Amino acid sequence: MARAVLIDDGVWWVGARDISRRIFDSIIPLPKGTSYNSYLVVGKEKIVLIDTVNPGFESELEERISSVVKPSDIDYVVMNHAEPDHAGAIPHILRISPKAKLVTTAVGAKMAKIFYGVPNDRVYVVRDGDTIDLGGKTLKFIEAPMLHWPETMFTYLEENKILFTCDFFGAHIAQGLWDDEVEDLIYHAQRYFGEIMMPFRVNALNALKKIAGLDIRVIAPSHGPIYRNPRKIIESYYSWVEGRTKRKAVVLYVSMWGYTENIVKTFADDLRAEGIDVVLHNLAVADLGDVAKDLVDSRAIVLATPTVVLNAHPLAALAAYLAKILKPPAKYLALIVLYAWGTQAERQLQEIARDLKAELIGMVKINVTPSKEDIENLRGLAKELSKRLKAEPE
Ligand code: FEO
Repeated sequence: MARAVLIDDGVWWVGARDISRRIFDSIIPLPKGTSYNSYLVVGKEKIVLIDTVNPGFESELEERISSVVKPSDIDYVVMNHAEPDHAGAIPHILRISPKAKLVTTAVGAKMAKIFYGVPNDRVYVVRDGDTIDLGGKTLKFIEAPMLHWPETMFTYLEENKILFTCDFFGAHIAQGLWDDEVEDLIYHAQRYFGEIMMPFRVNALNALKKIAGLDIRVIAPSHGPIYRNPRKIIESYYSWVEGRTKRKAVVLYVSMWGYTENIVKTFADDLRAEGIDVVLHNLAVADLGDVAKDLVDSRAIVLATPTVVLNAHPLAALAAYLAKILKPPAKYLALIVLYAWGTQAERQLQEIARDLKAELIGMVKINVTPSKEDIENLRGLAKELSKRLKAEPE
């Protein structure tokens, strides 16, 4: 039988660990699985469940809750976010907790209806700053929209000084109950931020400012470990949200016969010789979670593609599209295109450059094997890019 884990006075972790899951959003690899954290808060008069779990883990959630209270005694189910990995078990919980009301924002109420068929009479809509008294424990609701859906909010348990943030501050990792038990947690949190929160940096900064005045002892997200030392993750979030980039270039490339790879490796060496931190991702085998992570703090993006069936390689187009929708803070862009007899790739890369909103420092076109002039052009591009990257303070 699955059991609840007491994490603080009157607060239990009742979630699920999806150790074997290997893909999220059908695109981002999960090398360490993930967790769906759900929390049970027991006051003197009322009992609350904060967020639920991914579909398929309902029994585990029910067993953990039942190890502390009867599910039928739950008064409220807080839905900080409507996405199925946290709200997918709501229909089950509302069935076994017949008196429970679903607590969510006005937008959340609409989503609960669309996704889970929750009728209006089971919903208790809260606004920013509203509170619910549980008897010796008070929940305060903080609207934090577009993190990363329109209905998202945080829940603050005032007496315990715990902030429940759902996806915000999350990390896809199934191991560890507490932050200090996972040595590479910031790496996983940065991967998560890159994929989920980076496109919404303005909203994320608003949320950080909104919670700046709170006395936060513990941050309890709904993926990954709970932060009993929240300072480090809050500082990391400020850095990522404000787009504080490093003297770092992320090089995204595709190579079919090795020509592009050889050129890219030399180009990367030229950048390194100038003191630039370079991370190469061969898009044919790259972990897109790592690509997203490196886009979080890279000041430059270098995209290199061969030409295939007259066009840029589809994986280069995919990477460019990903970079476009993730809205990374990179300021500079450099392009390298190889061609033999088709020239569409050049035009496509120019279109990509327009989409990325970074300053295009240059594009080098090479007819398969670099000529002396091409080599000079590549060196020149590496020098110019380095100069721009170094012009800004770390
Ligand atoms: Fe973890 Fe947006 O759901």
